[in-house]
Amino acid sequence: MAAGGLVGLVWLVASLGPAVAALRYSPDWASLDARPLPAWFDQAKVGVFVHWGVFSVPAWGSEWFWWHWQGQHRADYERFVQSRYPPGTTYADFAPRFTAHDFQPRQWAQLFQRAGARYVVLTTKHHEGFTNWGSPVSWNWNSMDTGPHRDLVGELGQALRESNIRYGLYHSLLEWFNPLYLADKASGFKTQDFVVKKTMPELYDLVLKYKPDLIWSDGDWEAPESYWNSTSFLAWLYNDSPVKDTVVVNDRWCNNCSCHHGGFYNCADKYQPGTLPAHKWEMCSSIDKLSWGYRSNMNIAELMDEMSIIEELVQTVSFGGNYLLNVGPTKEGVIVPIFQERLLALGRWLETNGEAIYESKPWRVQTENSTVTVWYTAKGPVVYAIFLLWPRDNILQLSSPTPSPATQVTMLGFAGTLTWQKAPGTGLLITLPHLLPSPLPPQSGWAVRLEGVK
Ligand SMILES: *[C@@H]1O[C@H](CO)[C@@H](O)[C@H](O)[C@H]1NC(C)=O
Ligand SMILES: *[C@@H]1O[C@H](CO)[C@@H](O)[C@H](O)[C@H]1NC(C)=O
Ligand SMILES: *[C@@H]1O[C@H](CO)[C@@H](O)[C@H](O)[C@H]1NC(C)=O
Repeated sequence: MAAGGLVGLVWLVASLGPAVAALRYSPDWASLDARPLPAWFDQAKVGVFVHWGVFSVPAWGSEWFWWHWQGQHRADYERFVQSRYPPGTTYADFAPRFTAHDFQPRQWAQLFQRAGARYVVLTTKHHEGFTNWGSPVSWNWNSMDTGPHRDLVGELGQALRESNIRYGLYHSLLEWFNPLYLADKASGFKTQDFVVKKTMPELYDLVLKYKPDLIWSDGDWEAPESYWNSTSFLAWLYNDSPVKDTVVVNDRWCNNCSCHHGGFYNCADKYQPGTLPAHKWEMCSSIDKLSWGYRSNMNIAELMDEMSIIEELVQTVSFGGNYLLNVGPTKEGVIVPIFQERLLALGRWLETNGEAIYESKPWRVQTENSTVTVWYTAKGPVVYAIFLLWPRDNILQLSSPTPSPATQVTMLGFAGTLTWQKAPGTGLLITLPHLLPSPLPPQSGWAVRLEGVK
């Protein structure tokens, strides 16, 4: 019997072998979209986005500086360059001033860790085409030949790995002013010189050199899939690349891909669905509400405060999303203290309340307004109710959970259980601890943990 079972098992393995080997992705969306998303991404929930490049040198307007200046010829940008730089200044003249003199990748990694980030996404190349690594096909327009004379992508990657943080590479498919791209565009995207000579070599180079956990594609919107050939790249990435089992990608791979194809969906920047999406998604947001790249003329009123960051995080996670919060470092490689302060505030909140965020799943109800707005998450049988305003009479009403005699309520960061009673109608009334007014520093949001509810 036992021997027969073993023979059967051997036969089963042998017959599965070729079947498993044959399970390869083909370069079409039906096949690629069927790939299960590696589990780490949904569990991670919180990431930091970093926009850094030559645009950090003028540091004015936004990371779209070059386009506004010389694509659209906006008068305010032309005036800015005339008043600050010598006559005849070109965008390329900014590159040597991208010094990264104060860039300390280990300090960045430590900051991101204290912010509670489980992954970090760096712009390896934005639409300006400047590569933050020594791309062999970006002659004199890369961070080794000019500017920092350093491998920014590699240095940050090493520091993040030492801190156990996953590494994502942002990469723009298009380059506003690349002559090869402009020629392909003039052909109605019938020729593919730019894709063959620039985009694809760089994407393969990034994967082989830096073995990213995530590829955050962008700059897809002008051309169709038949031009970008992104399905061929993704089939290689999923079948044969060194990161085939762990890598995660987003949805910006062709002009009609966003919100339809790829790995997780970003849809639009700062996307906020009103209901629970059927597909894993990520909200990217920026502490500077007006720009992703650093602007030296930021005003405090234009920055997200701690409360709005936590509100976005909580709302995003309750709707099944990940939250990717952006900072733009200076041309010297400094993350200015106001951004550090916001990131550390997020980290402090997560230190207490992260249990309701990391590795959580959406609950059957995402949000409700009873006395105050509440967002729900769940982990196995445990339900978390997160609220950002303290209810006036110290009583938190929850309408959606159905309590039982076994129901236990606690608050994250607070020792002991909370008393509760059945609410008239449905739900429960929870008596919160008397924290306010109190000598404790004000907080932006609390989470109660519910066990034994349905
Ligand atoms: C694009 O993909 C097609 C089919 O997979 C292939 O024949 C073609 O050579 C690829 N072109 C480029 C530029 O990679
Ligand atoms: C874009 O994608 C949607 C959904 O897949 C499809 O209905 C539509 O026909 C596509 N449009 C183009 C121009 O391919
Ligand atoms: C709760 O109230 C806020 C603010 O008035 C509103 O935007 C939101 O849609 C409401 N949520 C629900 C679930 O009714």
